[in-house]
Amino acid sequence: PPEVVPQAPEDPLFGLMRAFRADASPDKVDLGIGAYRDDNAKPWVLPVVRKADEILRNDPEANHEYLPIAGLASLTSRASELLLGKSAQAISEKRVASVQTISGTGACHLGALFLARFYKTNGAGRTVYLSNPTWANHRQIFSNVGLPLATYPYFNKETRGLDFDGMKGTLADAPEGSIILLHACAHNPTGVDPTPEQWREIAAIMKAKKHFPFFDTAYQGFASGNLDRDASAIRLFVEEGFELVIAQSFAKNFGLYGQRAGCFHFVASPSSEAADITTRVASQLAILQRSEISNPPIYGARIASIVLNDDALFAEWQENLRTMSGRIIAMRKALRSKLEELGTPGQWNHITDQIGMFSFTGLNETQVLKIRSDAHVYMTKNGRISMAGLNTKNVGYVAKAIDKVVRE
Ligand code: LMR
Repeated sequence: PPEVVPQAPEDPLFGLMRAFRADASPDKVDLGIGAYRDDNAKPWVLPVVRKADEILRNDPEANHEYLPIAGLASLTSRASELLLGKSAQAISEKRVASVQTISGTGACHLGALFLARFYKTNGAGRTVYLSNPTWANHRQIFSNVGLPLATYPYFNKETRGLDFDGMKGTLADAPEGSIILLHACAHNPTGVDPTPEQWREIAAIMKAKKHFPFFDTAYQGFASGNLDRDASAIRLFVEEGFELVIAQSFAKNFGLYGQRAGCFHFVASPSSEAADITTRVASQLAILQRSEISNPPIYGARIASIVLNDDALFAEWQENLRTMSGRIIAMRKALRSKLEELGTPGQWNHITDQIGMFSFTGLNETQVLKIRSDAHVYMTKNGRISMAGLNTKNVGYVAKAIDKVVRE
């Protein structure tokens, strides 16, 4: 019967993208989806990705055969080194199981599915705690597999920084063994990350409560321009001996958005059984992966693998990462200084304090809708702007539009 399938709402982010495309105004500015743009508001194919693509297309051995279920081993092995460090003990002790996935979303999903199936605790500790706010898709991904959800405070509306006390309080009060979703760096949507000292405190609370860390990392190298620094929270938890999982996306840091390249990693705690546990986990991940996608897509994975396995290309990739993060940092400075020049009511230091792809401006929903209809500036309803949508040509226009809407 027709009423069995009710109409679902359109995805807010992709709906915003569609509305932007349909807007005929020459002034329109897209600060919606988190995808890098160059100073001409155009998508940027990383020069190193172009080179790798060229190598791939000239490879007479390249074909379109199936990858193994766990994906391209030359990618997954380098991907785990990228996260944990080349000489990580977890890797040499064979405590890491890695599976190539449909980018970060697929990695979160595979992890969620795996935990829904195998994460058993004695108490109520199967609940997944998400930061409030978090990437909109997290909620759907975890609830789709039937895991109960809760949130921990994250953003302080007054300071537009971290609500550290709120976060710590909830983590300390959560049932023992809860699953805690953590953004490894460049928190989406707020752009607010804990400091290294705060990460240590978070790790201590989580250890005392035997919580299970689920890291999501979509911005390694893209946040600070430094691959190691952007992985430091994950490395801290691994060195602290946690059993944990990591969802890793190569969409942003390789600009391989539509290629859906990413990995899921399980890391076992150090113990005499760790390697055995890891082998068993890998076997179960393979079963889940087979029933879900059979095997992951090959093209983007090969591109990332070519770059990660060649010293010169790897160095060039780091250059490209610095280009992207550097331009975003420049845009943070430009937007803040333009707002301060205009004397826009309020404090704007959070724009330069925040890190990564996004800034949480503090604009409310009414202001967001107004700036969209009046100035054709598109951002998500929570006031998040994708910093990469700003450039030297439109930042003044956007600052004036924000100024106007704040004063109204
Ligand atoms: C975003 O948050 O804008 C990106 O991560 C894109 C997405 O898939 O939501």
